[in-house]
Amino acid sequence: MPYTVLARRYRCKTFDEVVGQDAIAQTLKSAIAHDRVAHAYLFCGTRGVGKTTVARILARALNCEKGPTPEPCGTCDICQAIHRGDDVDVLEIDGASNTGVDDVRTLRENAHYRPARARFKIYYIDEVHMLSRSAFNALLKILEEPPEHVKFIFSTTEPQRLPATILSRCQRFDFRAVPTETIADHLTWICEQERVAPQAEAVRAIAREGRGSVRDALTLLDQAIAVGDGAVTLEAVRQTVGAAGGEQVLQILAACAEGDAGSALGTFADLLASGADLGSLLEQLIRQVRDLLVVKTCAEEAELLDAFGPDRDRLAEVAESMAVPALVACLGYLTEARSRARYAVDARPVAELAIVRMASLAEMEPLPEVVAHLESLGRSLAGAGTGAGTGAGAGGGPSASAKAGSGGKAAKAAPSRQGGEKKKSKKDEAPHVAHAEEPSGNVPSARPAAGERGPAPDVDEAVRKALDIFDGRICQR
Ligand SMILES: Nc1ncnc2c1ncn2[C@@H]1O[C@H](COP(=O)(O)OP(=O)(O)OP(=O)(O)O)[C@@H](O)[C@H]1O
Ligand SMILES: [Mg+2]
Ligand SMILES: [Zn+2]
Repeated sequence: MPYTVLARRYRCKTFDEVVGQDAIAQTLKSAIAHDRVAHAYLFCGTRGVGKTTVARILARALNCEKGPTPEPCGTCDICQAIHRGDDVDVLEIDGASNTGVDDVRTLRENAHYRPARARFKIYYIDEVHMLSRSAFNALLKILEEPPEHVKFIFSTTEPQRLPATILSRCQRFDFRAVPTETIADHLTWICEQERVAPQAEAVRAIAREGRGSVRDALTLLDQAIAVGDGAVTLEAVRQTVGAAGGEQVLQILAACAEGDAGSALGTFADLLASGADLGSLLEQLIRQVRDLLVVKTCAEEAELLDAFGPDRDRLAEVAESMAVPALVACLGYLTEARSRARYAVDARPVAELAIVRMASLAEMEPLPEVVAHLESLGRSLAGAGTGAGTGAGAGGGPSASAKAGSGGKAAKAAPSRQGGEKKKSKKDEAPHVAHAEEPSGNVPSARPAAGERGPAPDVDEAVRKALDIFDGRICQR
């Protein structure tokens, strides 16, 4: 008999078997028991948390030969066909590939025919947010007044993309990410059924790697059993997760923190050349940026960190040179790249663009610096009166020379704008030196005392600088 993966073999058959979604299971059971089942449900939640599973259980509960009942028998033809996903009256539709208005029109026409053998005709539309606007409109009509014998169950990983008109016509359930402990218990139970003796720490590591998704954890367990030749050891899990490249992935981020796009791209290319999969590299980058954020922002973070990522001290070392807003921006670039890479003909440039963008963050001034520059500009203008302001308009554009000298760590480290100061190149100006010398470097050139003209403040310079920084910031968006 061909091998069926654990995630499929252990698809729950009753509400009580579903783990981590107790409130949803309880509400649905009670709705069935009291004959108060809505005509449309919306199941929201990330991948592998039980949406399709619960939809099938609900379908069985409604259509079981011995039902409707909160405890479907599981043995009748209907229960079995629904569990396999091939019952004639339970139609599972992939919203991502049936997005058009014609698909929904066909559905609407067919919905009026009675079910072939069961009580209800149940439409389960997965990834419903992918429907086109006109398809949603076509759906609205039947959602408003569905025939008695029709039930809808929609599922989505992105509820925010659904029109309010649809949301307001469905009873919504938010499936939560399943806690690590709960996944670990579930895995242990499955190991018992499979007669494999797992190491407890290996099970925990898999559960953590699942990050809330039972399916992801089960897929990992399957692989770990195969790698460990029947046993589930921490080493087998480590191999399965492919954590070997962890340090190199962190090096990419460390290079980005230094503004060294070349080195970051080089390490990335090395990893690809050694056979790493581009999708999982992006995934690892995302996890590590997230771990850097955890190290930077949480005090008690040990449990939150990637089980197989670089150790905490190494993370802290890299995190040192990255500000929280920069890490947040990195996370944005990487998650954007991950979704674009899925549909790209050639995903590599998409990932490389994200790396270059991360590296160019080092060129950006942190927000407090920008504010300080603006304050300095305001003070300069106020102090200079109209005379000194003349150059401001003319010099408004971020000229090439201003660009060359500003930004980068140099600007970040030593935002001194004393009139006539020569701009330094990035190399000349080590950030730590600058900090040591000028702890209050944001203070602009001293304002002349009242009544005293003093040396004309370099308004031109300040304006150029401010515009330049803004230019830099806008480019990052
Ligand atoms: N809450 C859960 N309790 C027990 N097993 C679960 C749970 N969630 C998922 N699983 C396991 O993962 C497999 C896949 O789950 P399911 O198809 O329900 O996920 P889903 O939420 O529909 O994900 P997707 O958004 O990717 O379609 C199931 O067959 C089952 O083995
Ligand atoms: Mg599903
Ligand atoms: Zn049955």
